[in-house]
Amino acid sequence: MLEHKIFTNGFKYIEVTNLHAQAKIALQGAHVFEYKVKDKPALLWLSSQAYFEESKAIRGGIPICFPWFGKHKEDSSLPQHGFARTTLWELVHEEELEDGSTHIRLKLSDSEETLKVWAYKFEVYLDVVVGEKLSLGLHIINNDTKAFEVSTALHTYFDISHIDNISIEGLDGCSYYDALTQTSHVQNKILQINSEVDRVYQIKENSVRLNDGSKQIGIESKGSSSIVVWNPWKEKSMAMLDMLDDGYLNMVCLETSNAREDTRIVQPTQTHSIEVVYTQS
Ligand code: BG6
Repeated sequence: MLEHKIFTNGFKYIEVTNLHAQAKIALQGAHVFEYKVKDKPALLWLSSQAYFEESKAIRGGIPICFPWFGKHKEDSSLPQHGFARTTLWELVHEEELEDGSTHIRLKLSDSEETLKVWAYKFEVYLDVVVGEKLSLGLHIINNDTKAFEVSTALHTYFDISHIDNISIEGLDGCSYYDALTQTSHVQNKILQINSEVDRVYQIKENSVRLNDGSKQIGIESKGSSSIVVWNPWKEKSMAMLDMLDDGYLNMVCLETSNAREDTRIVQPTQTHSIEVVYTQS
């Protein structure tokens, strides 16, 4: 079942409820901000202080970073992580699948506003399948006559029991760029987090696992060979108005991306897709 809902300030979202799970997706940003499989804990972390307001990014869930990840390369006055997460998308398809999952498709295309900050014609579709697993596919189509460069991320905030309890598997031997020190390194064991982390890993296999005590989350990706690991830690949490001071203790971002060396060029008429499937056990 799919319901169109609206907060009192006019902010619109879709609520999906089916045999397997429940999810909430904001039309602004095509932003999945809740997903919960029946009888399992919530997969996504959502800040209790998150803004659900026009033109503001939601702190939590799965922000879509497009057409650039992080700061704009040449113009730092442009919005961090691009404009997709603060722009209204359109729901173009909804379907109940045979296995009881629900497929939702949202679309964003160039407009007078986007052309002012990114001079390309494009269409982007986000396919979301809400089922026992959560799948996302971002399909970027170049409708222009010139090639464009994109860096993207499915900037997922995972809900965790405590930052001290988690480990991240699948990064061993991978090189990473540490945005805090602006230096490059190689990961030499399972990653555990005990201070601020802001890294872009170039991954070797498209499979990463987040262990949280007895809970495990599998992250299987396609069309991506980088993953961003981010936790703001205490001081930066305190500085963010849309996050509680100790919010960092219960979240970690593992962002399937096309970042840094994994930035992509999309030729006219071509499509680039980046996909991820999350499983919980
Ligand atoms: C991460 C970046 O992906 O997103 C960090 O690597 C950034 O540098 C973080 O601080 C959050 O960004 P924002 O714009 O949502 O506060």
